[in-house]
Amino acid sequence: MTFIFANWKMYLNNEESLALAKDLSAQDLGSNALTCAVFPTMLSVAGAVSILKNSPIAIGAQNVAWAPKGAYTGAVSAQLCKDVGCTYVLIGHSERRHIFGEKTEDVRKRIAACIQADITPVLCIGETREDKERGTQKDMLKTQILGALEGLDLGNSGLIVAYEPVWAISGSGNGDHCNPAYAQDIHTWIRSEISTLTSKFVPLLYGGSVNQENVVSYTSQKDIDGVLVGSASIKSNSFLTMRDAVASSL
Ligand code: 13P
Repeated sequence: MTFIFANWKMYLNNEESLALAKDLSAQDLGSNALTCAVFPTMLSVAGAVSILKNSPIAIGAQNVAWAPKGAYTGAVSAQLCKDVGCTYVLIGHSERRHIFGEKTEDVRKRIAACIQADITPVLCIGETREDKERGTQKDMLKTQILGALEGLDLGNSGLIVAYEPVWAISGSGNGDHCNPAYAQDIHTWIRSEISTLTSKFVPLLYGGSVNQENVVSYTSQKDIDGVLVGSASIKSNSFLTMRDAVASSL
């Protein structure tokens, strides 16, 4: 199974998000070997769910609160996302960590909330350019992995991990090209770290400046099970070109 996940971030307004969902819903995306999901803003999640309900494209949220319910102004719980029809939630995206100051313990509580609500968290991890230049990227990644997952009961719940080096993310990061062989090496290492926490298979996605030209260079790596795409996923033609490129490479 290969995953193509589209993180629309806050690039689109509601009308544009629903128009993009409509464009995608009109396409024949039937391929059993691919799992596609889109992550609109929270405002557009319910609309996207209703537009895509007969399509194989799943919907995810870009973040959730860790509390299930209560006096939490401005928050949306994992259970609410699940009730509305989300299958996935991004947790610990680098923009949440670096722009909004989310800490590893926040990430952990959000992962626990997803497990509780039976919605699959997509744990996002990634080193900064400084970590990479210092050669401490694995220390950083290990802190993020253990901080988010160690001690949680992952037995019955879904889990996906997305490796998104901050220096490779366009817009909020440096947008540098990540060599697919480097990404593959890190994924192999992440797989072995995750295997100390759970015996089940955890799909590993790569994210950071993925586009139509380079997507297969990542998905063809042995330990890269799919991609999490930002800016190249907000136009239907570029999303569909990526999807076709990956489908025909399988
Ligand atoms: P870009 O594809 O725009 O670099 O964004 C990657 C990302 O952050 C996806 O979550």
